[in-house]
Amino acid sequence: MEKTLVLLKPCTLQRGLVGEVISRFEKRGLRLAGMKMMQLTDEILNEHYAHLREKPFFQILKDSMMSTPVIACCLEGIDAVNTVRAMSGATNGRNAVPGTIRGDYCMSNQQNIVHTSDSLENAAIELARFFKPEELFDYTPSNLHYLYALDEL
Ligand code: TYD
Repeated sequence: MEKTLVLLKPCTLQRGLVGEVISRFEKRGLRLAGMKMMQLTDEILNEHYAHLREKPFFQILKDSMMSTPVIACCLEGIDAVNTVRAMSGATNGRNAVPGTIRGDYCMSNQQNIVHTSDSLENAAIELARFFKPEELFDYTPSNLHYLYALDEL
């Protein structure tokens, strides 16, 4: 099964939406394999947002991501990367479709509730950036056979 990274951003903690957002992933049937609160640093954000370093909003994005701790989650499921990405919605919350997390909870291009990995390759890189191996847990959900059909497992 695939594993993917979700960061609950500072705006989500400040707005008291942590439980609601995690609940959506739980209800969808994704398995929580790891979760921790972290204070992000300039160093980790320079890596994490390296693809945006030339953008005019790079510094305010980093400042915003350091303003309050974040909650890093590792979610697991079949096709978890694309499923979680689809659940988060378009980057700009004002363009995100209602029913997605960003489309239901935000009005901003930056204060947009979650970060979610955009490919399987990046998910592996990002999980290694935010979690030590021993911080990710393997356990079998007791309802596994009601989440997936036998020929999907
Ligand atoms: P990006 O990786 O393009 O999007 P996503 O989070 O959907 O994978 O951008 C990373 C973050 O950068 C995005 O979540 C919010 C911030 N951002 C801005 O602040 N302004 C912008 O114009 C864009 C495109 C992103």
